[in-house]
Amino acid sequence: MHRETAKFSTKVIHAGEQKDPAYNAIITPIVTASSFIKSNIGESAQFGYSRGENPTRHALETCLSSLEDGVGAVACASGMAATATVMELLPKDAHVIVTDGVYGGTFRLLEECRSKTSGFTTSYVDLNDIEAIEASIQENTALIWIETPTNPLLKLINLQAVANVAKKHKILSCVDNTFSSPWNQRPIQHGIDLVMHSTSKYIGGHSDLIGGAVIAANKELFEQLQYVSMAVGAIQGPFDSYLALRGLKTLDLRMQRQSENALLIARHLENHPAIKEVYYPGLESHPQHQLCLRQMVSGGAVVSIRLIGNLTEVKAVIERLHYFVLADSLGGVESMINHSYSMSHGSMSSLEKEAAGITESLLRLSVGAESVEDLIAELDHALKVII
Ligand SMILES: Cc1ncc(COP(=O)(O)O)c(C=O)c1O
Repeated sequence: MHRETAKFSTKVIHAGEQKDPAYNAIITPIVTASSFIKSNIGESAQFGYSRGENPTRHALETCLSSLEDGVGAVACASGMAATATVMELLPKDAHVIVTDGVYGGTFRLLEECRSKTSGFTTSYVDLNDIEAIEASIQENTALIWIETPTNPLLKLINLQAVANVAKKHKILSCVDNTFSSPWNQRPIQHGIDLVMHSTSKYIGGHSDLIGGAVIAANKELFEQLQYVSMAVGAIQGPFDSYLALRGLKTLDLRMQRQSENALLIARHLENHPAIKEVYYPGLESHPQHQLCLRQMVSGGAVVSIRLIGNLTEVKAVIERLHYFVLADSLGGVESMINHSYSMSHGSMSSLEKEAAGITESLLRLSVGAESVEDLIAELDHALKVII
């Protein structure tokens, strides 16, 4: 069993692990039961019905909570289900302050669903501008939704500064920590109330899972989350909970390797004649590198690049890539590439994209755990179509 003082690399393997009373199995078993037998009327037990609590999901929730320095977590059916669970905590007609450039699915949930069903209103704000946050606060502001680093330009937001404003005005704060994973950044340490994850990314780590989670910084919030999760029922099933737990065991190893690879690739591409700009907070040239050193362990495993060249040349580069597969997701051990203009940000208008700096020549690399020499050689080969 892990101890409170255990290091991150120990916790990913041991936190939350459940002894198997039947066979003394070394790993937490997948418990598929919907119901658990009661010894008699009025007897209370930890597990009753799996929508409320399930042993495999409980192991995952305990591990995630420990990794994020929280007091408890709920594991959900997807990252979006986790985000929706946080939104369930807010009153009707709430106002939400949101990172400008937030993940498109979060934008859709707020603008297409919650604005209609719950009367939510929103303000999209540069959260590094504290005066702008203060100016956008209304009487009914209930939540500040933070995403750092942002996708795809990897801008950072100062978590401590936003947490301070949120606390001053008694507003909840939540960080979507998907891009960093708890290996790289632990928002609760900076005073944030809630952490949300799409576990489909780094936590699962093998591109074989859709899942999500919310971790609470205090008991009161955790109890509210548990209640909402049980009431709405958008929970993670036991098979997927197992996959997430299995992925977590190598999170430390994967993130170390993938972040090291990303830094080497970013450094290499920074001097490449076919590249106009490299976006990576781990580079000394990143405008917020000092903030990266303060609130993150490393620059992470995502690198964005702006190529010299037009869409035809960008397509030719992508055609020459084999290890970097063109995909919507990120965070797996295999390297992926995303054309933000037509893929992750495809639903924005051209004008909105241009204003946000998302041009046709921008590519987001999710750097995997392959040999970095192979990845660099492949990128160099592909970029030869430009120079
Ligand atoms: C930053 C971020 N948040 C949330 C989500 C939603 O997660 P899911 O696809 O697991 O619902 C994603 C998915 O791409 C994401 O990148």
